[in-house]
Amino acid sequence: MITSKQLRDKWIKFYEGKGHLNIGAVSLIGDGTTGVMFNVAGMQPLMPYLLGKPHPSGKTRLCNVQGCVRTVDIDSVGDATHFTFFEMMGNWSLGDYFKKEKTAWTFELLTKEFGFDKDKICSTVFEGDDAAKRDTETAELLKSLGIKEENIFYLPKKDNWWELEGTLGTPCGPDNEWFYPRDGKGDSSDFLTGNRYVEIGNDVYMQYKKTATGYEELTNKNVDTGFGLDRLLLFLNGYDDGYKTDLFSGAINYLEKVSGKNYDEDEKARKAMRIIADHTRTSVMLIGDVNGILPSNTGAGYILRRLLRRAIRYCRDLNIDATEMIGVAKIFIEEVYGEAYPLLIEKEQYILDEIAIETKKFQATLAAGIKEFDKCITGIERKNAFMKEKDPSYVPETEITGKQAFRLYDTFGFPLELTKELASEKGLTVDEKGFDEAFRVHQEVSKAQVGSAKGGLTERTEMTTRYHTATHIMLAGLRKMFGDKTEQKGSNINEERMRFDFNCDHKMTEEELKELEKFVNDVIAKKIDVVRTELPYNKAVAEGAYGVFNPTSDDEVVSVYTIGEVDKQICGGPHVNNTAELGTFKITKEESSSAGVRRIKAVLR
Ligand code: ALA
Repeated sequence: MITSKQLRDKWIKFYEGKGHLNIGAVSLIGDGTTGVMFNVAGMQPLMPYLLGKPHPSGKTRLCNVQGCVRTVDIDSVGDATHFTFFEMMGNWSLGDYFKKEKTAWTFELLTKEFGFDKDKICSTVFEGDDAAKRDTETAELLKSLGIKEENIFYLPKKDNWWELEGTLGTPCGPDNEWFYPRDGKGDSSDFLTGNRYVEIGNDVYMQYKKTATGYEELTNKNVDTGFGLDRLLLFLNGYDDGYKTDLFSGAINYLEKVSGKNYDEDEKARKAMRIIADHTRTSVMLIGDVNGILPSNTGAGYILRRLLRRAIRYCRDLNIDATEMIGVAKIFIEEVYGEAYPLLIEKEQYILDEIAIETKKFQATLAAGIKEFDKCITGIERKNAFMKEKDPSYVPETEITGKQAFRLYDTFGFPLELTKELASEKGLTVDEKGFDEAFRVHQEVSKAQVGSAKGGLTERTEMTTRYHTATHIMLAGLRKMFGDKTEQKGSNINEERMRFDFNCDHKMTEEELKELEKFVNDVIAKKIDVVRTELPYNKAVAEGAYGVFNPTSDDEVVSVYTIGEVDKQICGGPHVNNTAELGTFKITKEESSSAGVRRIKAVLR
């Protein structure tokens, strides 16, 4: 028996013993540099260093245990081995050691620390292609360590090459994967065809950079190792169900207790318990992260909302109140992860409150939404039966319309994926294109209905006028960075500073704040004229002007302020004549204002 804590410690101690620095974990929320929403691999935060930049610690041997969130397989959660959050135990060589040391250490770790039998370990290496040569070097090293020749397999790129999907400029390379038989039987003749072998982890020899045309050799010969803690933990304890480990047993016990249902005996309850436990765990991690997010309707916040709402829905399968998820969250924070992630303890009440808020919000409409959904189903079934009777060759309808799915989203808060999941349980699909179309139409209508917000100007002095123009440039920068859905949600200006609220689903990173500051200062440096024009509302909009404005008629004359190519807003003013008048723009604070709304305070000097 080995606990999750012991396993984390073992990993770190082992690699510290080999001269590695434990760099600890970073935020789970993507930092915006790779375009991915969440940290999906332990190497992700280390990309600049794998590409050659010296690590700030000055060290070239690093290790840690890093949380990762992958939601591509969210629909598979509910089985024994899929999770949306997991911890990756990693270690890295930044141009330091390479294959010889790495194969030896992984071998030592597996055989000495974890007690694996060297004769039963299987290992796969890259068979080679145009980009990189056949990895005979690693195979030879494995043999010299004592791995049996018949347990070493050469495999093609789809198996033995590791890179982050869809991103360019990222480090990658061939990898060496390590396997062990589930049943402890050593004969590897069915390695490629059977399913007895479990991947324990992999060592990536990251010496390439992915470019638009192929792969470029890096000056650094790096190693990127990743061993999934959750997977190894269940394997080392002889389980074939990840929810049996100490990471989940508390949550499952709790759910059994409050539902009165048995995890081992009741299949439907088991699936529900797994989904509730997994999704609650990931939600705790995302809300309690240093760059914590909250449920919202866009971006990462939407994924969080999906996770929570999917879990809330499965509480119905257990006949428990969804607020029991708060009890589950408490167990994860206090009994499982609090020690390794102390911020969770610090933010505990906040996390629990946010889960409670989302639960309350969705529970209020869930039952009504399910009723509505059932109505759609009955409608389709009735129509099919009726038509079939009239015409035996009638092809039955199998699709929920986009409009119906949108109504479930808009009125009952059903994420599209939830509707899709409910539909697929009935053997039906959802018209997703139709959903998108209904969504777009709805947005256009509501845009036209938004009430006019006050400019937030209390007094009009030279200084407040400058700040007002600065808010326009900053909003233009935010829209450039986060898309046109970014809008002003509030503004308050005085002689000393500006305060500006806008919708955004995440805490802005240092990098993003720097980028924004630079954007505004660049516009100031370009000395652009700020031009006021008057024109009918519909014309202004057609020319790309935007703003929180509620016209009484389509052709109401409005005042539009244009700052070169940078910005065009419908606004009452006043503004400076040229951006050069603003001086230097500096952000002093970024914080949450309310759910999904961030607040920036900034000064002009
Ligand atoms: N980057 C490698 C992985 O995620 C180690 O598997």
